[in-house]
Amino acid sequence: MQAACQLALTLYCVDMSIRITNPSSSDPEAEQIAVLFVCLGNICRSPLAEGLFRRSVQTAGLAERFFIDSSGTSPWHVGQAPDPGSIAVAAKHGIDISMQRARNLREDDGERFHWVVCLDASNKRVVGARIEPKELFLLRDVDPLRSGTGVPDPYGGSSQAFDECFEIIERCMEPLLERVLQVKKLSV
Ligand code: 4NP
Repeated sequence: MQAACQLALTLYCVDMSIRITNPSSSDPEAEQIAVLFVCLGNICRSPLAEGLFRRSVQTAGLAERFFIDSSGTSPWHVGQAPDPGSIAVAAKHGIDISMQRARNLREDDGERFHWVVCLDASNKRVVGARIEPKELFLLRDVDPLRSGTGVPDPYGGSSQAFDECFEIIERCMEPLLERVLQVKKLSV
């Protein structure tokens, strides 16, 4: 039983490293760009950011180049699906996030993810105290309308709160992708 658990753990670790780097090429440029979105519960805002950014890179034809995930600074909702409000607003815009499951920030996320993008300042403080990724910033640092603030938390709010949250995150996606590609010296 113990051996089976160890084997499962080893296979999981191998799988994670395969997902983060592309083993089919020895070209270092082919390494995947790993981006992690972080909020408090990982059920409202960061699942939307994950779903929307996934769509952006797919639209740009760059899906193979990216490894995208999200997590929460709290363990409160670990294993749960996104909030029904987030699932509904994403579905309204043709994005299915219902298969995502909440997870807590891991101590090795700083090594696993070059880019860690936080949904508000409190999340960023907590993340900065726990891990040291190469790039750590607020999503709204790239907001063309109001940079440097947090995405309001829609948890427990009305459908309008989720609409507003979606709208803010959506308008940050193109500038975020541009920022990442600029640093990676890639073009769409
Ligand atoms: P999120 O929203 O950080 O955008 O996922 C929240 C979800 C749950 C709670 C707070 C915020 N909560 O207190 O359980």
